This record gives sequence, C-alpha cells and structure tokens, in this order.
Amino acid sequence: QRSLLGLKELGRDEIESILDRAAYWENHPVKIHKELQGNIAANMFFENSTRTRFSFEVAEKRLGAEVINFAAAASSVEKGESIYDTVRTLESMGIDVGVIRLKPIGLLAELAESIKVPLVNAGDGNNEHPTQALLDLYTMRKQFGNLAGLNVSIIGDILHSRVARSNLYALRKFGANVSFCAPQNMQARELDVPYVTMDEAIKADVVMMLRVQLERHDSGMIKSAEEYREQYGLTVERAKSIADHAIIMHPAPVNRNVEIDGDLVEHPQSRIFPQMENGVPIRMAVIERALT
Ligand code: CP
Repeated sequence: QRSLLGLKELGRDEIESILDRAAYWENHPVKIHKELQGNIAANMFFENSTRTRFSFEVAEKRLGAEVINFAAAASSVEKGESIYDTVRTLESMGIDVGVIRLKPIGLLAELAESIKVPLVNAGDGNNEHPTQALLDLYTMRKQFGNLAGLNVSIIGDILHSRVARSNLYALRKFGANVSFCAPQNMQARELDVPYVTMDEAIKADVVMMLRVQLERHDSGMIKSAEEYREQYGLTVERAKSIADHAIIMHPAPVNRNVEIDGDLVEHPQSRIFPQMENGVPIRMAVIERALT
C-alpha cells in the first residue's frame, strides 16, 4: 500500500509505471472493473474542487471501489474539528484509502506519518498537485511520444501554483526543458528555472497556461484582468505564433479572457478537455497503486 504525496521524491520509474498503467486502463474501457471491489475510498476535500474530486470519484467507481465524499463545509470542521481529527475519524471507520486536498503545506506529510491507510495528495497549498502533473505528462506523452528534450513553457501565476511545481519536478526527471514566464510578483525565485518573455514562451512545444489564483492573492497583485491579458494572456492574436506541432494546456478551472482567450479553450491545438479526460485513467492507476 503506497501513499502519493508528491512527485519531487518519486522516482522516474515509478512515474513511468503509473503512466503505463493509466494507458492500460484507457485501453480497457470497461464500465466497472472489479479490481478494487470491497475497498472504500474516502475523498476528503478541505478546499474546493470540481475536476480532481469528481475524477477521483469516477476512477474509484470504475475500479469497483465504494466511495465516500467529504466536503469540509458540510462537516464538523465547521465546528472547529482539526484536519488530523477528521482524517483519523474516517480512518477509524475503516476506509482503505484517503484522497486529500488541503491548504496548509507540510500537513499532509505529517498526516502520512500517523495515519496508516495510504493517502493521496489531491493538491496541498502551493506545494504539489501530483495527479494533475501526472495527467499532464500523460497528455504530453500521448502527443509527442517522448518527453526528453521537450520544451515546456509554464506561464502565469507560478507563485501560487502547485501544478507548476509538480510538473517541474516530474518533467525534469524525463529530460524535458522547463521555462517559466510570469509577472515579477507571481514568480517563484526559489525554484531554479529560467524566466523567459511571453514572446519566447509561446515558441515552446507545450504552452501551459496557469489560472490567475485570485483567491490566494493579496489585494493589488494584478491591476486589472485586461492588463494581465494584454501582458501575459494567451490571446487569439498571440496564439497565431504558436508552432503547428505545439499544444496548449491549462489545468483548469479557466479564467476565460484573462490568462487564455475563451476562443482558444477548444482550439484544435488545445488539450484542455483531453487533460480532464486523461485524469480518470491516471487516477485509476494512482488509486490502484495505493491499494495493491
Ligand atoms: N485542475 C484542478 O485541480 O481542478 P479542480 O480545482 O477543479 O480540482
């Protein structure tokens, strides 16, 4: 039984085997498999989510597991119960695996030391979002076959992005070249990554746009959505300079017409909805790995 807390410490072989297993699940599209019959998966979200929460639920159900969903807003967390006590409570009821999204950085690693069931990180603060990066790598591998030498630009709110961090850690293990592009006040200088201009960034093989995470901003981080779009948005005009073989990615949710123009979300070169589709087999592989 194995937890998945992040990709920084996960070996390239382990990542590759998750991607390969996801490909297996994608190529065996049975409605409900029996592999995890008799197991109970708990999805514990202390922060909001649409894609991650529901694709974990679909993945767990496709593997035959029973699923319980926990949303902090409808729980005793509202009465002041701690995250640790909440997870221990569900563990004591007999869950077999816990999928957790939370804000505080470092808490998941602490929980994993005292909780006996495997835990899967569904996004913790701006630290890591391993299953998002796995589905991103899976999407890139499907497109390009190989990640070595691939030029990947990650553009936008790097400072608040767990997606950027998990992608960086994983892509580098496969020999991809990662560049960042961000306004000064959204850069993460502690990460040793070159920053490039927007004109340079859109020349990459993969142009990955990030959501401007307004809910994590101090006031005044962006002057206006229009100005941000003008300087760092993937506009229809800018997209004309993207190479024919390149793809556009975004973890979503998307702020249409801020970091990416609405007309580009389903552009032929966009992989935004295929990313979501790929999230299911990836999470099947991760949940299966946790329980077998
Ligand atoms: N990409 C992603 O994590 O989306 P959600 O916040 O909706 O889960």
